[in-house]
This record gives sequence, C-alpha cells and structure tokens, in this order.
Amino acid sequence: MPNYIPVFYGSYRTDRMGIRLARYIVAQLQARGDEAELIDAQAVGLPMLDRMFKEYAPGDAPEAMAELAGKIRRADAFILVTGEYNWGMQPGLKNLTDHFLEEWFWRPAAIASYSAGRLGGARANSAWHATLAEMGMVVISSTLTVGSIGQSLDADAQPVGDGGKALERGFPRFADDLAWWTEATKAQRERRAPPY
Ligand SMILES: Cc1cc2nc3c(=O)[nH]c(=O)nc-3n(C[C@H](O)[C@H](O)[C@H](O)COP(=O)(O)O)c2cc1C
Repeated sequence: MPNYIPVFYGSYRTDRMGIRLARYIVAQLQARGDEAELIDAQAVGLPMLDRMFKEYAPGDAPEAMAELAGKIRRADAFILVTGEYNWGMQPGLKNLTDHFLEEWFWRPAAIASYSAGRLGGARANSAWHATLAEMGMVVISSTLTVGSIGQSLDADAQPVGDGGKALERGFPRFADDLAWWTEATKAQRERRAPPY
C-alpha cells in the first residue's frame, strides 16, 4: 500500500512562489510511489479560527473542515511547506493547522521551507519544528531549505539553476528519512495502540 502523504502549503498571496516547491514535492513523492496530495490552505478556505474541528457537534463542522479532518486522520505522514513572513510562520498555514489537534497525533512530519532570500525560510522552519512537536508529530531532522525560490524552481515547478540542483540533491535523503519514520510509526501503531 502506498503511503498517503498530504503536503500542506499556506500562502494566500496572489503572486505566491512557494506553490512551486509544494508542487515539486508532491510530484517527487508520487514518482517514488507515494499517494501524495497538495493541501492548499487557500483552496480549502477555512475561516480564521473560531471553533476547532473537535468543538463542533458531530456533523456540524463545515464540510471542508470535516473533509480535511478525515485526510489528516488517514495520513501516514505529513509534509509542511512553509515560507517566512517577518521571521515567522505564514498565517494561512498556521490557521489551517490550528483547527486540528488529536487528528495529527502519532505520525511523522517533515518541514520544507523557502524564501526569496538566501536563508531559505530557516527561521519559520525552526518555529514549525516546535509547533508540530506540540501537535503530537515526530518531526524528522532532515529538512529542505530553498533560497531564492523564484530562481530555484520555474513556474512549472521544475528545478533550475544552482538552487534547483541543490534541491534535487537534497530531496532523496529528506524523502528517505520520512519514509523510514513512516514505516516505524506505522509498525508501532499496529504493534501497540497509542496510549491516548
Ligand atoms: C509579509 C512578508 C514578509 C516577509 N518576510 C520575510 C522574512 O522574514 N524572511 C525572508 O527570507 N523573506 C521574507 N519575505 C519574502 C518571502 O520569502 C517571499 O516573498 C516568498 O515568496 C513568500 O512566500 P509566498 O510567495 O509563497 O507567499 C517576506 C514576504 C512577505 C510578503
């Protein structure tokens, strides 16, 4: 059975660039045989957080929220593709993730960050690490940091230039690391039910 890996991306900007990295990652995972799906926060369109999914009575949550809850619960692993706004997280992605909590538990997560500058969104990457751990995921140590995003991937999400080459070199280790933890956490969930 292929692993189901939703790839989350959360920029709402008209001229957003990170969608290139999200699409690249989805395509690469699919080429490896995974069932990868882009979860574009803008397309999902959750409102600013009012009630978390679990705070709705069964059947009362907005349809998009309930559908996403099902996808998160079904996932074998997660990838978050994050840009950096003023050294912090993008609000669209944070807003989406905050709607859920228990739905994320007991699976691994990997972070891929990017920015227009040379640091590749490293500060947002680091902030997400702690947040995903708080939300019950095992955050893997391999990561991707893509600088000069507009010059590293073209509009068709194809790697270009030195940045694109670095991404192509880094991706296999990132994906192998996530695959190892996906297998490990899946086996452990089957061996022993999570404690809560
Ligand atoms: C509000 C805002 C704040 C930004 N702050 C940072 C920053 O702190 N560090 C950085 O490297 N780039 C920063 N940038 C540049 C982004 O890296 C670049 O615009 C990137 O393409 C944003 O991701 P998106 O296109 O997917 O929305 C900022 C951009 C915006 C719009």
